[in-house]
Amino acid sequence: MEMINVTVETGGVRRTLSYPGRVSLADVLRDAGVPFCAPCGGAGVCGGCRVLASGMMTEPDSFEKRAICGADILRGVRLACRAYAVGDAFVRAPEAPVTAADAAGTAETAKNVKKERGRYGVALDIGTTTVASSLVDLLTGERVREAAAFNPQAPWGADVISRIGAISEGKTTVAELSRLVRGTADALTAALGAPDGAPRVIVGNTVMVSLFAGVDPTPIGRAPFTPPELFGKYIGGDFFPRCAGAYFGSDAAAAVLAVRELTGGDFILCDVGTNGEVASYAGGRLCVTAAAAGPAFEGAGICCGMRAERGAIDSVRIESGRTVPHVIGGGEAKGICGSGLCDACACLLALGVIDKSGYMAEPYALADGVSLTPGDIRALQLAKGAVRAAVDIVCRGAQTDGVPIYMSGAFGSSLSARSCARIGLIPGGAREVVPIGNGALRGAELMLVSDAAKEEELALASSAEYVELSGSAGFERLFLRSLDF
Ligand code: FES
Repeated sequence: MEMINVTVETGGVRRTLSYPGRVSLADVLRDAGVPFCAPCGGAGVCGGCRVLASGMMTEPDSFEKRAICGADILRGVRLACRAYAVGDAFVRAPEAPVTAADAAGTAETAKNVKKERGRYGVALDIGTTTVASSLVDLLTGERVREAAAFNPQAPWGADVISRIGAISEGKTTVAELSRLVRGTADALTAALGAPDGAPRVIVGNTVMVSLFAGVDPTPIGRAPFTPPELFGKYIGGDFFPRCAGAYFGSDAAAAVLAVRELTGGDFILCDVGTNGEVASYAGGRLCVTAAAAGPAFEGAGICCGMRAERGAIDSVRIESGRTVPHVIGGGEAKGICGSGLCDACACLLALGVIDKSGYMAEPYALADGVSLTPGDIRALQLAKGAVRAAVDIVCRGAQTDGVPIYMSGAFGSSLSARSCARIGLIPGGAREVVPIGNGALRGAELMLVSDAAKEEELALASSAEYVELSGSAGFERLFLRSLDF
């Protein structure tokens, strides 16, 4: 039998796999153990699993032609889950490196750190997309070094529901996903130069920390959405802080802890990503919830969407009646990320290109090869509608006028407060919008150096009033009301 040979290249390393018949590029990448982004888990509906490929393959189908710009199709960009190798082929997956950098103003060298056992610890934030980590000086509480890597579970979907689905359908196992993410956490710990046996605090959404700990998270994916484990304990030397509920994990609870360190007063906290976690702290009462915002804020599912990395339009302003985009790293725009999308939408509302209902007559070109389509605006409306409805639900009965809103996460860091208010993502009466970067990692660092912080997080997460939005009639009503701009 003649075999089909597919060569996979990532990070400059090539490997050839052989198959008896046609095979999707996504399956080849999975078989090769190459992490790649598959936001819809391979359902073929998001357009996010782009790879460069050549050789004998099926022709791009109509969805691929819509999802990939013409010039990119000519370059050989394909959707890994829709393109099939039918003869020998070559596929190049984007590199997913571990990136490590010294935190600003620190002088410790990796060698010095390695020698000082007991002085340093590691904080890890297991995100669905990215695993972030930091090395912390336990004496001073200072962040010494940071490192990040993509979550290698990405080929099984961009969100926790897709990953649970992949386990339920037998495409992968809890043990396999656990092994992958643990491997990344260990690689990050090594990249940070942490001494052997350094203490670690591990936060993440409830599904991610369950998978890390090897606990089956599938009950979280079906009613009554009961997490098998909320943690708040040590497992094998690593500390797993407490989760507040099925969809408000220890990452969000750690971010609440980080904000509590910044302010003694009331606040609203939004961690806006694929899953939008929202908390309201008012008069000593903590109310939390989470809404499935979809991947628009991460730049996925958007025609020219991309992550907030070099080449992404991350903000837009109006000059002389025209939109002027800002591109991360300068140079030519390659796409648009979540914060750019919010800004662009606010600008297009101001210019009358989009109306209050979100109607837009035709695509709008922001830069050469980067346009916003009516479908993109619809995706943003669904995402912001979900988050805004969640904010309104947790703030019910509480005063929001003059209350500061803290935005956690990579998306929140580059957000413009004015654009957030203009598109209705946050209540108009908020006093200020304060970006706090990765609040989850900051909270994990606090717990790493202080038992009192561990106790406080445990108390916050255990006493939080968790509102389950699935099937909530109030949420549906508020969501529909929040769709308009
Ligand atoms: S289109 Fe391939 S993962 Fe979504």
